Amino acid sequence: MHLFPEHGLFHLNDACIDVWSVSVEPSSNVIPELETVLSAAERERAARFIFDRDRNVWIAARGALRMLLGLYLDVHPASIDFVYSEKGKPSLPNSNINFNVSHTRGVILLAFTEGCELGVDIELIRPLPDMMQIANLNFCRDEAQELAGLSEEARQPAFFRCWTRKESYVKATGNGLSTPLGEFRVSFREGESVRFLQIGKDPLTASQWALHDLDISPAYAAAIAYRDVPRQIKQSPLLRPEEFIQALKLGESTNSALRNKAQETN
Ligand SMILES: CC(C)(COP(=O)(O)OP(=O)(O)OC[C@H]1O[C@@H](n2cnc3c(N)ncnc32)[C@H](O)[C@@H]1OP(=O)(O)O)[C@@H](O)C(=O)NCCC(=O)NCCS
Repeated sequence: MHLFPEHGLFHLNDACIDVWSVSVEPSSNVIPELETVLSAAERERAARFIFDRDRNVWIAARGALRMLLGLYLDVHPASIDFVYSEKGKPSLPNSNINFNVSHTRGVILLAFTEGCELGVDIELIRPLPDMMQIANLNFCRDEAQELAGLSEEARQPAFFRCWTRKESYVKATGNGLSTPLGEFRVSFREGESVRFLQIGKDPLTASQWALHDLDISPAYAAAIAYRDVPRQIKQSPLLRPEEFIQALKLGESTNSALRNKAQETN
């Protein structure tokens, strides 16, 4: 399965972003396989979840992250060490690979690039009884007003477009929700170009950031943000777990063929 045939399956550069999405149910039979690559500390963290459902999805997300990074770095997934920022953003020490992960009910979303911090967010589009209250408390005034002015039918997807675009930004900066979401403004009206309208007080800052929606499935809203000129987004389809494992195996055999070829030429 050639997900990114244009530039080789597991090769990153500073002009493109690879985006993977995998559908995972908490009872999926690939979870034990993904769990094999977790560190002792990650197993301890997994054991602290109260509900099996949450534990299993977390294990799947962390296992998928390690497996993909293992292929990009061409190392064993279990040998990868993460470091964490003060606000909990994981990254790789001594590497120019950047990544970010988001998981929500049934889907894991992972994005990878080089030389640029990025953030992703995915949410299931669903009814929220207190939607306007959340918007009034968290969004900037113009966003909340714009949302209130939409028809009820248009409001629900618009809310999640706005939320995921904003959360992808605070995940790119690494500050997470400690940054008030009202301090910056995104576009979210149907058909309007996807972009930051304002970040902080300097009018130039918004133009230094790129924002894209990620088309995962009609049931989900998802977005990616990063500080650079727009990069090419290479996106996998929403993979079933078995398809994901198959893609990993193909990646491993491609990497091993490349390793053998390099040895032959040396
Ligand atoms: C980052 C944050 C917005 C994620 O929210 P969420 O919707 O629950 O979760 P998502 O599924 O979208 O993303 C979770 C992933 O984002 C990554 N992540 C964690 N903290 C992050 C941060 N500060 N910035 C960017 N990414 C972060 C991790 O890979 C995490 O995956 P994991 O749970 O498997 O480790 C939220 O957890 C947050 O605001 N954290 C900061 C809290 C803080 O200030 N902590 C200080 C003390 S540690």
